[in-house]
Amino acid sequence: MKKINFNQNWYFTLDRSIDEFNTYGIDKYSDAAGAAARFYDHCNWEQVELPHDWVLSLSKTPLANTFAGAYPSTRYHRFMGERHSELEGVCSVGWYRKQFTLAPEWEGKRIFIEFEGVFRDAILWVNGTYLDRHASGYTSFACEITDHLVFGEDNSVALRVDCEQPEGWWYEGAGIYRNVNLLIGEPTCFKYCQTVIRTELSGGIHVRAVLSNDTAVAFEERVAWGIYDGDGRQVASAESVASVDPYSDAPIEAEMRVEEPRLWSVDTPYLYTLKIQAGNEETEERFGIRTVSFDPDRGFLLNGKTLKVRGACVHQDFGGVGVALTDNLQYYKIGRLKEMGVNAYRCAHHAPAPALLRACDELGMLVMDETRMFGTSPEAIRQLTDLIERDRNHPCVFIWSLGNEEFSVQNTERSSHLMEKATRIAKALDPTRPVTYGGNNGASFQGINQAAEVRGVNYIRNDKGGTWLDLYHKEHPNQPIIGTEESSYVLSRGGAVNDMEQGLLDATGNVTMPWGSTPKGWVKYMETRDYFAGSFMWTGFDYRGEPNPFYYGNCVSSFGTIDLCGMEKPPFYYYRAWWTDEPVLKLAPHWNHKEGERVTVAVFTNCEEITLFLNGRQIERKSVERFDAPMFEVTYEPGILSVEGRRGGEVLHDALVTSGVTAEVRGFPVLKARGGEEIAIYEINAYDEEGRFCPMASEEVALCVEHGRIVGVGNGDPSCFDAERMPDFEEAKHVTCFYENGVAVEIPPKKANALPPRQDWIAYEPRVETYDDDFRLVARYKTSAPQNQVKELVAYLEDVEGYEYVEFERLDGKARVYLNGEEIGNNLRWHGRQARNSIRPYRFYGHFREGVNELKVTFEYGAFDLPLVSGCVKVGRRVEAPCFVKLHYGKARVFVKSEIPESLALSVCLKSSAFR
Ligand code: GAL
Repeated sequence: MKKINFNQNWYFTLDRSIDEFNTYGIDKYSDAAGAAARFYDHCNWEQVELPHDWVLSLSKTPLANTFAGAYPSTRYHRFMGERHSELEGVCSVGWYRKQFTLAPEWEGKRIFIEFEGVFRDAILWVNGTYLDRHASGYTSFACEITDHLVFGEDNSVALRVDCEQPEGWWYEGAGIYRNVNLLIGEPTCFKYCQTVIRTELSGGIHVRAVLSNDTAVAFEERVAWGIYDGDGRQVASAESVASVDPYSDAPIEAEMRVEEPRLWSVDTPYLYTLKIQAGNEETEERFGIRTVSFDPDRGFLLNGKTLKVRGACVHQDFGGVGVALTDNLQYYKIGRLKEMGVNAYRCAHHAPAPALLRACDELGMLVMDETRMFGTSPEAIRQLTDLIERDRNHPCVFIWSLGNEEFSVQNTERSSHLMEKATRIAKALDPTRPVTYGGNNGASFQGINQAAEVRGVNYIRNDKGGTWLDLYHKEHPNQPIIGTEESSYVLSRGGAVNDMEQGLLDATGNVTMPWGSTPKGWVKYMETRDYFAGSFMWTGFDYRGEPNPFYYGNCVSSFGTIDLCGMEKPPFYYYRAWWTDEPVLKLAPHWNHKEGERVTVAVFTNCEEITLFLNGRQIERKSVERFDAPMFEVTYEPGILSVEGRRGGEVLHDALVTSGVTAEVRGFPVLKARGGEEIAIYEINAYDEEGRFCPMASEEVALCVEHGRIVGVGNGDPSCFDAERMPDFEEAKHVTCFYENGVAVEIPPKKANALPPRQDWIAYEPRVETYDDDFRLVARYKTSAPQNQVKELVAYLEDVEGYEYVEFERLDGKARVYLNGEEIGNNLRWHGRQARNSIRPYRFYGHFREGVNELKVTFEYGAFDLPLVSGCVKVGRRVEAPCFVKLHYGKARVFVKSEIPESLALSVCLKSSAFR
C-alpha cells in the first residue's frame, strides 16, 4: 500500500449547534445533511493545516478545569470542588471537512483513509455517507472508503469531533491532532497493521502478513520478500506464492536470515527495512533486530545484557502547539531526553503518535507503550488491540503497559482476573514482549499486581514510607520489578524560593509531592538495586493541566525536568551528570538576590571534587559521591558565584553572575525546520546593558516574523494564563451598493433585489398522466418569466488593495462571481436541491488590486432559482495579530512555520521599546 499524506486543505469550524435534521444521515445512503453532507459550503470555515488542536486557540480561564489546562472545552475534573457549568464543554464540538478529487491512476485501487489520532469521539462521513465512529482519542484508525468515492468528481470527507468527555486527567487537546493519510492498495492488498516481524539475535527473521482479496477472482501471485540494510542493500530475501480465495483474507509467511546482523540498541539504533511484493501490491516496514527480557534478579535485559531503565514518563503536548505536534517536534522532544541521558520513554497514559515511535526507533529510546483503558470491555480490548497491532514492529517498544492506577479495582481479586485476561489478549498479539501495569498500591500483592508479569511500581513512597520494596522482592522472587513512575517533584525553571502566592517553586527539585522524591532520592534508590529494572521520572516535560500543588491558581504542571517549551530546568544536569559520560558541572539557579540573604545553591556534576568561590574568594570545597547533588548555603553579595570541578585530570568551571535590569532581548533558533510541514523553534533571552543574562527578567517582548508565521508562543511559566496562540483577526468592509443596468441597488436590499412579484413564481403544471389528480402548484417561473436570461450586478470598490475575499451572506440562484473580469467562484454546486446546505455565507477568494476593483455577480435564471443577493456583502482579509510573549526567568520560546524556512527571520524587541 502506498501512503499519501492527506494533511492539506482541511476546513474547520467550532460549532456544536451545526447538527441539524438528519445530519448523521443514518436513514439513507449518502444522504447526511448539513456539515456532513456530500456538498456543503464550508468556504467560510477556517482553513487549517493538520495537525490541528483547536483548544489552544480558546481563552484560558482560572475558573475552567485547570486539570485540563483551564480551557472551557471539557467537563470538570473530579478532584475540583466548585463547578462552573457555563464553562463546561463549551467549544467541545468541532467539524472538519475536505473536498478532494482522485488521481485517475487510483481507479480500480482500494483506498483507505487513516487518522493517526483524533481527540475524540470522531464520526466519519465520505460523500455524505456515515462510515464509522471511533471513540478513542489516542489510537489510530483506518477506514476503507473505496466504495464511496467518485472518480472525475469532487469528493468530500467530513469529521465530527467531540472532546467534551475527557479520557484522562491532563490536557488532552481536541481535533485532528495527528497526521491523516490515504492508503492506496491493489484490489488484493495488505491488511492494515497485520504485517508482523519477529527477529532473533542470530539474524533469523520471521515475517507474517495478511493479504485481503476484494475481487471475485482468486489471487495467485508470486511473492518477493526482501530485507534491506541502512544503506539500502538487500541483505536477505525469499520467494513464495500467495493464493487468496475471492473475497477472502489469507496469511503469507516467510523465514529469512540476515548474516552478521547489526543489533538495535539505545546506543546503536540500527534499522533494517522489510519489503514485500505480492503481484503489484507492495508494503514496507522498518524494524530492528534485538531481544528484550526481564529477570527477577537482574532487571531488564536488552539483547541479553542488563540495562538500567532510566526513564521519563511524558504526556504528549508541547509548547505552542498543544497536542498537535508536527513530526519534527516529536524528534526534538526525544532528542532533548537523550541529551539528559534518558534511555526510556513511557507513553503516559495512552497510545502515542506513530512519529514518536519512529523517532524512538531512530534515535535509540526504549518505549513503554501504554493503553489508555484498562480492562476487558469491548472498548478496552479494541484499544489494546489497536495499540499492539500498530506498534509491534517497532524495536523501541520493550514492554506493554496495560493500565495505570486503577484505584477502584486494583486491590480486588476480580482485578487479577481482568489483568490476566488483558495479558492473554496482549500475548496473543505479541508474545515477544512482557506486560506490566502502573500500580500505586505499594506492597499489595492482591489483584492486578499478582497477575502482572512484570510488577510496575508507581511511587515507592506510597507505602510504608518507601521501605517495602526489598522485602516485596524477597517475598515474590519470581516477579521482575520496574518502577513505572517516580519522582513527582515540582519545580520552576529558574526560581530560588517557593512562592505560594505566585505559584512558583524552587528550581532545584527539592520540593516533592507527598508520594514523590528528589532526583537524587529516586535515582540512588533504583541505581543501587540490581533486581530493580529501573524507573521512570514523572515527568520528562511539563504538560498542560494537573498543576499540582496549585490546583487552582496554575494551569500547567510543574513536574517536568524540562519545561513545556523544551527549556531545561536545573536537575536536567543532574541526570546528564550521572546518566551520560559527558563531563557536567552546573551551578543553579541564579545569583540575583537581596544583599545579606542566605541563599541555597545546587551543583549538578559528575566531578569528584568541587570548590565554590564568591567574587574570587573560596567559600567551600566538597567531594562528590556517586549520584550526589551537593548544595551550598551562601550569604548573598552581588558579583560572581563560581564553581570549579575536578574530574580525573580535567578541570571544569561554571558561574552565576549578578545582572542588572533588562536592556535588550535577543532571539536565536534552537530548532530549524526543513519545510512547511515542520515547526521551527526560536528562543529569546534577556540581557542587561553589559550583555549579562538576566535570570529574573519578566518583561513582555514584541515578535515579528519574516517569511513565516508564528503558530504559538510560550515561556514555561505554569501560572501564566496568557494566550499561547494569538488569533488572527478579520478586517472587513461592507459593500453597500451594486448597479443593475446602471441603476443603483442598495445592499443589503430593503427587499430582496430583483425578485419578481410573488405571482410570477407560482405556476400550474399540467396533470401527470398516471395520476388522476389536479394540477400541481409548484414554485417555479411562469413561462412569462425571463427564462435563460442573465442578470448582472456590478460594484466598484476602492481602497481594498490586499483584501483577500468577498463574502455574501446569501446568494441564491445560479450565481458566478467575478473580480476584475476573472471568475473567482460560483455557487453552482450548492444551488437548487443542495440549497438547504447553503444557508451559510459564501466566501470567494481573489486578488484585490490598487485603485478601482470591479466586482460583478451574474445570475442565470433557471426553473427553481431565485436570483438574489439578500444579505450583507463584505470584502475582507485576515490580519495577523501583533504577537507578544512574556519572559519567564529571562526566557521565552516562539514556534514558527514557514514555506521557505531558509529565509525565515525573527526580530524581537522589548514591548516597552516597541511602543515608545
Ligand atoms: C500519578 C499518576 C500520574 C500523575 C502523577 C502526578 O499518580 O499516575 O498520571 O497524576 O501521579 O504526581
